[in-house]
Amino acid sequence: MKRSKTLSIAAVVSAAALTLAACGGGGDKADGSDGAAAADGKTLRLAINQTEDYPSTVALTSFGENLSEATDGRWSVDVYPNEQLGAQAEALQLVADGAVDLAVVAGPQLENLNKDFVVFNLPTVFKSVEHETSVINDPEITSELYSSLEDQGISVVGGFTAGMRGVYTKEGPINTPEDLAGMKIRVQETDTNIQMIEAMGGKATPMSFGEVYTALQSGVIDGAENAEPSFVTQKHYEVAKYFSYTDHLINTDYLVINSDLLKSMSEDDQKIFREQWDGFLDEFNGLWEESISTAIDEAKAAGVTFTEPDKEAFAEKLAPLVEKNITNDTQQKLLDATRAAAPAA
Ligand code: GCU
Repeated sequence: MKRSKTLSIAAVVSAAALTLAACGGGGDKADGSDGAAAADGKTLRLAINQTEDYPSTVALTSFGENLSEATDGRWSVDVYPNEQLGAQAEALQLVADGAVDLAVVAGPQLENLNKDFVVFNLPTVFKSVEHETSVINDPEITSELYSSLEDQGISVVGGFTAGMRGVYTKEGPINTPEDLAGMKIRVQETDTNIQMIEAMGGKATPMSFGEVYTALQSGVIDGAENAEPSFVTQKHYEVAKYFSYTDHLINTDYLVINSDLLKSMSEDDQKIFREQWDGFLDEFNGLWEESISTAIDEAKAAGVTFTEPDKEAFAEKLAPLVEKNITNDTQQKLLDATRAAAPAA
């Protein structure tokens, strides 16, 4: 399974490289001058690590269809789910290089490129998914941050929720931080996520999303943390039967695009692209709510126990992480703006 995935990545990427070479393009603008002709259109490759039926995959597929319709077929999107184009860290690199056009990556991946993204990756910063959604879609708060990776070849189109996360384990249930003592819990591959699980009492084991099922099954890890839709669509519930609502983190996913590609689009096409992105957000937000209840039903039917732990005990352990990780003025400003946008308690 792993081997054929790797082969297919190589095949798709070399096909992409050939296409770029044939077009004589691919961000090869020697002098970076403005006069570069706008691209008329392309079938964009989009990498995502989720299954076909996960809400963002579904809504991005509609996004591509709508984009194609609105541009008379000039711009369209081929969605590659299930890490077919690589896990998020690889997909992000491929977008930076221009070998893949678009990818969905979670906030922790962007933190590895610019530490200012840390603000949106820290536990307790977002009070609810509604709070998160309003902040990550507010250009006054985010526009500088989202364009900050352009010199690395990446533009952030926008963000959407990856949900409020709980901890799930093979042995359980988890009620207090003490229950996590000695347990190896998978986290995303970034520093703040490692600090997070350590603060909660567990042993953090970073790995990519697609590796989690096998790691749970073989006992390399004792548990993982995520929101219900990923817990179920990735089938983690087949091996980890205890889901604890620790509510320790609200995570954000981002759609990123190769910066040269975005700049090569005419202004009109960029406007259409943005409009279709707004359409994506509407569809996604509707699907998201629905997917949580569907996931809970499916997991319960398979014998999963959902528990309400001592959330305060976890929150207390996590609170110091914010101050510890805010180390510059830009981060502080982002944090202040995010807090100011929180609904009154
Ligand atoms: C969520 C999120 C993904 C992320 C994953 C993970 O499913 O939507 O973008 O990769 O969590 O824990 O790795």
